[in-house]
Amino acid sequence: MKKYRVFLIPFLIIIFAASGCTKKKETTSSAAEDSEASKLKWIIGMSQCNLGEPWRVQMNLDIKNAAEKHPEIKVIFKDAQNNSLKQRSQIEEYISAEVDIIIVSPKEAAPLTPPVAAAYDRGIPVIVLDRRVLGEKYTCFIGADNKKIGKAAGEWIVNRLNGKGKIVELKGLMTSTPGQDRHSGFREGIKGSDLEIIFEADMKWLEPEARKEMESALARFDKIDLVYSHNDPGAHGAYLAANAAGREEDIIFVGIDALAYEGQIYVKQGILRASFEYPTGGREAIELALDILSGKEVPKEFTLQSRVFTKDNIDQGGEWLKEK
Ligand code: FRU
Repeated sequence: MKKYRVFLIPFLIIIFAASGCTKKKETTSSAAEDSEASKLKWIIGMSQCNLGEPWRVQMNLDIKNAAEKHPEIKVIFKDAQNNSLKQRSQIEEYISAEVDIIIVSPKEAAPLTPPVAAAYDRGIPVIVLDRRVLGEKYTCFIGADNKKIGKAAGEWIVNRLNGKGKIVELKGLMTSTPGQDRHSGFREGIKGSDLEIIFEADMKWLEPEARKEMESALARFDKIDLVYSHNDPGAHGAYLAANAAGREEDIIFVGIDALAYEGQIYVKQGILRASFEYPTGGREAIELALDILSGKEVPKEFTLQSRVFTKDNIDQGGEWLKEK
């Protein structure tokens, strides 16, 4: 953590000293801070691709909450504001600051591959979280199996529609791996059925984009049975478009993420008929970072499990997707 430690410890001491009211308290706070700072061993640099979506805010919170239990680590957060070039430079900054480990949730696979590989080649461990980079030059990847989720969504939809119907697919950013896998998994899940994809578009994971695309789909097609969206914000955007056209009752909406205060609520409200969980992996990233930093072996792939939430199972905490 070298360079960060130089300014971080005095900075923490100043914050603690400033927060005391009485002389006695000040002394205690400083002492507490001194001891906190002396426990600090490692700096983690975290680069988040954007904080515009609740799911990513939750990921950072999961990281923060897990890290707070460990005085030996300190996490520095950077938000790339949905810009791959900005995210590249964030990784480069972490490399030149010589942080002890990097956690990155990349916006897109190709542009983030070189800086991640550069960190790895320099001996800085890198945990890649949720979206992948290309190749093998990273320490560990953490995420749920997006192909499996897409396939499970496809099978659920075939079953729900008795194998027949007109589908709109709203895809996540197709230069990111979850978008690619949720698409190919879905197509595998519906193979052999009479489902017809009448409209597909890349909504780039964004609710307003999904709403716009759905407006086009509604204008072109009188009959749409179901919208499969690669995330819940996209499914909600599509619902809003259908609602504005007075057609929301005729269409089933299915999404992915199932955040407790987003997708799961939509399922309870009947806006979504199903949402497939995509856990953030924030807590696991901190646990594995600590393992790596203390010299333990970690797996190259750490796969998180997912559940499906529907009206029928939500009060029982959803249903786990079956092992492949
Ligand atoms: C947030 C998000 C989630 C989605 C994940 C995929 O940026 O779009 O909704 O599940 O990214 O990487």
